[in-house]
Amino acid sequence: MAEQHTGIGISIRNLYKIFGSNPSAHIEAVKGGMSKTELNEKHSHVLGLKDINIDMPGGGIQVVMGLSGSGKSTLIRHINRLIDPTAGEVIVGDEDVVKMNEAELREFRRHKTAMVFQKFALLPHRTVLENTVYGLEIQGLPRAEQEREARRWISRVGLDGFEDNYPNQLSGGMQQRVGLARALTNDAPILLMDEAFSALDPLIRMDMQTVLLDLQSEIRKTIVFITHDLDEALRLGDRIAILRDGEVVQQGSKQEIVLRPADEYISNFVREVNRGRVISVEMVMSEFAGEPGGMPIRTGTVLEQAARTMTDAGVDEAHVVDADGKPLGRLKIGDVISAMVTPVDHDSVAA
Ligand SMILES: Nc1ncnc2c1ncn2[C@@H]1O[C@H](COP(=O)(O)OP(=O)(O)OP(=O)(O)O)[C@@H](O)[C@H]1O
Ligand SMILES: [Mg+2]
Repeated sequence: MAEQHTGIGISIRNLYKIFGSNPSAHIEAVKGGMSKTELNEKHSHVLGLKDINIDMPGGGIQVVMGLSGSGKSTLIRHINRLIDPTAGEVIVGDEDVVKMNEAELREFRRHKTAMVFQKFALLPHRTVLENTVYGLEIQGLPRAEQEREARRWISRVGLDGFEDNYPNQLSGGMQQRVGLARALTNDAPILLMDEAFSALDPLIRMDMQTVLLDLQSEIRKTIVFITHDLDEALRLGDRIAILRDGEVVQQGSKQEIVLRPADEYISNFVREVNRGRVISVEMVMSEFAGEPGGMPIRTGTVLEQAARTMTDAGVDEAHVVDADGKPLGRLKIGDVISAMVTPVDHDSVAA
């Protein structure tokens, strides 16, 4: 079995992208604060990305969310340099992708990154197996090895028995499983997924999210996942960055985003969220007034679960403990319940 890579972090630093005939002529103005609208109206250039700084955790899922046109695809395409920036750095591991020459870039794309596309992008005249080996074929691996890896991942995404089918014989969900198997067969440490599940029906989409999370708990790749769907972002993201008009308007853990939306744009996104399933107990615990009272509840337990556990046990106080059982704080049922229901006024809790 091929060794699985883990933990290559990605650090986007001061990244700018201006589209147009002479982007570098406008970079100073944009750095000086010229707006997307002004750049467009006065100079007929499009501000794609403005001063993006994101540290994406190695081995975690970084979600990038935003409305259509906010710059999500532009951003993810900088990571394997399908798009060249106007300014800035894209540090992967300890290398700046922006500085790579053509040969280095080819190697990087082949061995370090794999992409999963919204439209699946399967080759129609190739079977599932032939589609899945594609990346290893390009890498020039021996055929037997290509097939062994491909069959393993085809099986892992739940497509046993479909190896010899053609894409048009498969449903959309199954085609995207092939897309995922193909990407995983490459054994690249970085997986780039641009709206990979957005074309799927809601139930199939949930299935695919589950498949991805199950696999990820084992493969621990660095996944960059683009979506405009908040439920998907909250389900998948270890970290979430929200883009608007080419700028990061907020980034953090899902809890930070739900508890403290930075502005109206994000409040609108998070208004309908079931907070009890997102926020965990350490976010609402308070300091101990005396000895830790009540039952222990592990960090990471979401409020809904904590409320149920405490109610079932008939207690109105518990204490939060870490993985080693060390008490961290006091948990009052009233605080749990009010955090589950209180809509957040972003002005009063601005971070
Ligand atoms: N090649 C290009 N030339 C000019 N403008 C571009 C180009 N590519 C993207 N843009 C513009 O850059 C901005 C960001 O586009 P991008 O495709 O990254 O958005 P997105 O968030 O992926 O949107 P969607 O959800 O619709 O996929 C938009 O204003 C878009 O019109
Ligand atoms: Mg896009």
